Amino acid sequence: MTEVLAAMVLAQNAVTGAMARVLPRQLSERDPLVRPSEHADFQSNVALALAKAAGQPPRELAQALQQELAGGVVSSTLSGAGFLNLSVDDAQLWRQVEARLADRRLGVGEPLVGTRTVIDYSGPNIAKEMHVGHLRTTVIGDSLVRVLSFLGGDVVRQNHLGDWGTQFGMLIQYIDEHPEARWQGADPGEQVSVLDGLYRAARQVFDADPEFVERARLRVVALQSGDEATLAVWRELVAVSTAAFQQLYDRLGVLLTPEDSAGESTYNPVLDEVVQELVDAGIAVDSDGALCVFFDDVTGPDGEPAPLIVRKKDGGYGYAATDLATIRHRIRKLEADRILYVVDARQALHFQMVFATARRAGWLTDDVEAVHVPFGTVMGPGGTPFKTRSGGTVRLSELLDAAVEGAREAVADKPHNLDGEALERVIQAAGIGAVKYADLSTSRAKNYVFDIAQMVALQGNTGVYMQYAHARVRTILSKAPQDSLDAPVDASLALHPVERALVLALDGFDATLREVAQELEPHRLCGYLFALAKAVTDFYGACPVLKPESAGVRANRLALCRLTAQTLARGLDLLGLQAPDRM
Ligand code: ARG
Repeated sequence: MTEVLAAMVLAQNAVTGAMARVLPRQLSERDPLVRPSEHADFQSNVALALAKAAGQPPRELAQALQQELAGGVVSSTLSGAGFLNLSVDDAQLWRQVEARLADRRLGVGEPLVGTRTVIDYSGPNIAKEMHVGHLRTTVIGDSLVRVLSFLGGDVVRQNHLGDWGTQFGMLIQYIDEHPEARWQGADPGEQVSVLDGLYRAARQVFDADPEFVERARLRVVALQSGDEATLAVWRELVAVSTAAFQQLYDRLGVLLTPEDSAGESTYNPVLDEVVQELVDAGIAVDSDGALCVFFDDVTGPDGEPAPLIVRKKDGGYGYAATDLATIRHRIRKLEADRILYVVDARQALHFQMVFATARRAGWLTDDVEAVHVPFGTVMGPGGTPFKTRSGGTVRLSELLDAAVEGAREAVADKPHNLDGEALERVIQAAGIGAVKYADLSTSRAKNYVFDIAQMVALQGNTGVYMQYAHARVRTILSKAPQDSLDAPVDASLALHPVERALVLALDGFDATLREVAQELEPHRLCGYLFALAKAVTDFYGACPVLKPESAGVRANRLALCRLTAQTLARGLDLLGLQAPDRM
């Protein structure tokens, strides 16, 4: 593992070095203000920024810096009132390519070594099918897991399954009263679909029959007090649902496994203690029989202070109490430095109150970061809320089926020489990838329309386009003679402008990943890969790779292709997409 300093960092270091020689200490340690530029590789306007403080005209200061830069790997020219245009030496850029290729990690550093991040994502509900509402949390959360782990972080996945609460009393009571109601099916997916139906039937009776409500309530008491017969049914519900979720996770290619499950029920034994701590500290107070936490800055729609209800009037604990337990557990037991809750934007207020309470209780301190990572809604065609024709919720598995069919048509439209199983694998990878990429490439906060035709389009910032871009580079590589693939890079060759643009694009991978990890915005990685795909297309459009003017040029261009293919494949993997070699 050798971290390769990006060209941008080399330029920053060079300017910082020059500053140290021409400026007094208190100025020389300032930001060298290096940015990518249209006119050169980079530009610095540090001379303009510091001229006044240095008591020198900007152009003069720029000239002094330029003189210091002369002869190094980063050369400069002067423009305008005192801008420095910075260009990295060709040989240095080739060495960047060589060094990244020699490293399994493509020269990307591991800034997160020694930090632990807990990521709460997916969190579907037991006895119900996963629906469109679980897509974003699952896909975004998984990509963040991948990026943070790749950057060296220690990442703990937590699947906060909805596996506890009064609804289980209702469902189990209904099942008990309808012995004929079983959840047969060919596989867990179908079984859970039957369960979902039972759940809806139970809800109907619950809404219509007050006597059933009372029996369901007693069933909740039985469940909570550990009645064995009740627990047995509950366990069965959990087992079937977990198996069905796993099927879907495997199909989606997300990393979650049953070991990552830490559902609401796991916090049940500590809720009394959690709440007692809040009562003892005077944070949770009685309000009309319920236990609540109030905040100065949180008011409801009516302008009255909106409380976090820690314990309901009937003594029951709800979603809030459980989430208070999650944050305490993740800090105290899991020893998290950073906790991410990848949950729908509509729960912003809930998390604001949970975090504020945890801070008051002293669980959440300044050295721990708790972040609600919110996201917008997936809309149906036409930008309306996503519903089935009959007004029901759209099942996630159906969406995936539809996307795979869309990808089947899109792939059929392109000439290819795949068949049988290999073709089917590519179609699945393209369809599932299309859904994930469409989700990840929109900035998190925005809503987006689930539009299959657009997702599987062969042009534009889509998963299918990215996978094709990768496969095209692999195809070029597969046509090269073996010995030319292993030939060393010749750093003495001049860089063609499109080669240069490609090297600089490749060099930006590390910075992009750091940004994603910082901002928790996978769409930046999509944007980066899209730009890289364009840079490589320009490159092989202008520079023949397989039949260039000399063997040396060919070796260098093949090295660029290899590094690009590896960077695209790695980038797609960090988004959770497959990158087939042939398409
Ligand atoms: N089960 C919840 C739902 O379906 C999501 C849980 C999110 N995680 C959390 N710690 N609250 O909306």
